[in-house]
Amino acid sequence: MKNITIIGTGYVGLVTGVGLSEFGNKVICVDINQSKINDLNAGKVPIYEPGLLDLIRKNVNSERLFFSSDIASSIKESEVIIIAVGTPQSKNGSADLKYVFDALDSISENLNSYKVIVTKSTVPIGTGEKIITKLKKKYEDNIDFDYVSNPEFLREGSAVKDFLWPDRVIIGTNNEKALQIMRDIYRPLYINKNPIQRAAVETSEMIKYASNSFLALKISFINEIANLCESVGADVHDVAIAMGKDGRISDKFLHPGPGFGGSCFPKDLEALLSLSKEHSVTMETLQAAIKANRNQKERIGEKLDRLVSGGIKGKKIAILGLTFKANTDDVRESSTIDLIKFILNQGGFVNAYDPIANESMAKIFNDIHYFDNVYDAICEVDALVIMTEWNEFRALDLNRIKKSMRNNYVLDTRNILNMKELSEQGFVYDNIGRIKI
Ligand code: NAD
Ligand code: UGA
Repeated sequence: MKNITIIGTGYVGLVTGVGLSEFGNKVICVDINQSKINDLNAGKVPIYEPGLLDLIRKNVNSERLFFSSDIASSIKESEVIIIAVGTPQSKNGSADLKYVFDALDSISENLNSYKVIVTKSTVPIGTGEKIITKLKKKYEDNIDFDYVSNPEFLREGSAVKDFLWPDRVIIGTNNEKALQIMRDIYRPLYINKNPIQRAAVETSEMIKYASNSFLALKISFINEIANLCESVGADVHDVAIAMGKDGRISDKFLHPGPGFGGSCFPKDLEALLSLSKEHSVTMETLQAAIKANRNQKERIGEKLDRLVSGGIKGKKIAILGLTFKANTDDVRESSTIDLIKFILNQGGFVNAYDPIANESMAKIFNDIHYFDNVYDAICEVDALVIMTEWNEFRALDLNRIKKSMRNNYVLDTRNILNMKELSEQGFVYDNIGRIKI
């Protein structure tokens, strides 16, 4: 059991804090956002993440999990300090490390005893070395710490499960003592199976970017295959299933859709590309994945415009699903943002519904109409577009919807609706890469 402070209580910091306390450690989650800490101390969870609230309650009650805005004293009483602040994209595409270095300043001002300093935020290759150099320079080597890169691979929407049962835990360090301490904090995982892989700091940083980039590349690839399927009369669903049966390819991340979004893939690909340019290394595949994704996002608007007779000018469109994927409240880089912009630019009108994220999207578009349920959102609209694969959209009452809509156009960008039923109900529909029935 270790005393741990986690700096940054966002999607990653909070889930990591909860997970490590569940593993038996004593964890303090700190944040500069006082209202977030107040909410957590009042039993409110600032993000939507399945299973998180129960686990927070359990570990708070067991006095293993604490929330605080007193960053200095939390650092002083901990042996392991984990940086989990944001690393957003800066104007030139590179990762903005402002928050990481602010967190590091808090750490370096409070180094009262030996500490393992861990970066869990996704940071460009070379950042660990910069952190080590900065600390050593400040203290002229008269300082007792070790550094570890420990990137996180959880997905929003299944973050708790991903953290508690990870495929791998990467510990990037050149130091045996720090490695042992990290093994200790992840001990329950280590006992059951051994997902822990040790690496050099730079390698660990690269593993994170390479993994995200490869997954994004896979999505862009299947999206382009889907687009070609539409032109040649093949069905991408069957293609993806068959491809996935080949163990070398795997069936994961072969779902075509409206383009990948979220707070990570888009910015991480840009950051890796920017780093590759800095080192004069060409990365054609990365550039292609980014470009294909931009095209895919544009293509959705164009598909809708083609589907609706006479185009979408003056038409009312219901958008179902606002988040970048299901089971999260996160709308960052959601393809829905591009679609709403497109519809408004074309002179169309938007009715929006999301089971969780209406409020988040209203911060970006406050002049469209938001609804509390599907059936109010689709009333008297010309077209309906599924943008997020929320489970509740898989079982829509199409008969009721048909009667309530003014026109009969459906664009299913997640391929979740039953095509046979759509046809039988008389909808004019489109999707991504499927043979229409
Ligand atoms: P987030 O924006 O949800 O949370 C970051 C938190 O850090 C915020 O609450 C902010 O107030 C706090 N913060 C900023 N500066 C601080 C400081 N100096 N001291 C204390 N708190 C501070 O970010 P996130 O989505 O959790 O992502 C964090 C990092 O993890 C990023 O590098 C991201 O790329 C990476 N990552 C994210 C995910 C994900 O699914 N969101 C998964 C894996 C890795
Ligand atoms: C992704 C990675 O999956 C995590 O391993 C990683 O830790 C995280 O980024 C990160 O670094 O932040 P996340 O962005 O939460 O996780 O969600 P994903 O499930 O990867 O989905 C990302 C986007 O790709 C979504 O817009 C999703 O709809 C899209 N996607 C995903 C597809 O279009 N098709 C697929 O087959 C899979």
